[in-house]
Amino acid sequence: MNTKRNTLSVKKIRQMIGGEAGLDWVADQLTALAQMYQIYESAQHEISTKLENLDAEFEVNYNHNPIHHIDGRMKDPQSLIGKIQKKGLDRSVDSIKNNIFDIAGLRVITNYIDDIYTVEKLLSQQDDIEVIRRKDYIKNPKESGYRSLHLVVKVPVFKANDVEKVPVEIQIRTIGMDMWASLEHELRYKTDVDRVEEFAANLVDNANALFDIEQNFQEIHHQL
Ligand code: GTP
Ligand code: MG
Repeated sequence: MNTKRNTLSVKKIRQMIGGEAGLDWVADQLTALAQMYQIYESAQHEISTKLENLDAEFEVNYNHNPIHHIDGRMKDPQSLIGKIQKKGLDRSVDSIKNNIFDIAGLRVITNYIDDIYTVEKLLSQQDDIEVIRRKDYIKNPKESGYRSLHLVVKVPVFKANDVEKVPVEIQIRTIGMDMWASLEHELRYKTDVDRVEEFAANLVDNANALFDIEQNFQEIHHQL
């Protein structure tokens, strides 16, 4: 997985605003935020390692890699605040932790459609993993044509003095579904949204066509 670790530290925060009258609460919230990011990134790494291990085991036993690659991202502080405001919730780190489940995110790109459910099963059956949310946008694609399996799982992160169960959002999809989602996202966010709506039906057709192709490839894979 390719990610960069967050580097905000308690020491840096104290250097920035330490001791300034009336700003203690800012320092406290920033400290809590830095600690939160560190623990959530650890959770992301725990899950990513589990997935890499499962993929390696599959390669040895079946000469097949279910996983093509894994991407990771942490939601940036600005998006976190935006989301919490949209939900009308308190702008504290506690409120962020209690209400937002995609602070740490992983995207698992599989080779075939079947692999999506294999990855889900192998991960969710592990003793320390708890699935707290599941949305299957493959069985029920979104109106846009979007397909993907969305899970939120909790994984224990062992800290110096205690254990915290941390949620990680995992989007699992095939190369074709990922290609469609990336292009559609680019069209939607980097171009005029109204114009994109003109092509909505076209985008759905393309999502369906890609799905048909991937089903065909899977059929060939099964027969070989
Ligand atoms: P959020 O508050 O946005 O997380 O909504 P939610 O909790 O209902 O999540 P949902 O299951 O809809 O998934 C949201 C994420 O899935 C987005 O951040 C995108 O990464 C992805 N996604 C959902 N719908 C689409 C879509 O139509 N097109 C693309 N490209 N991505 C989508
Ligand atoms: Mg989400």
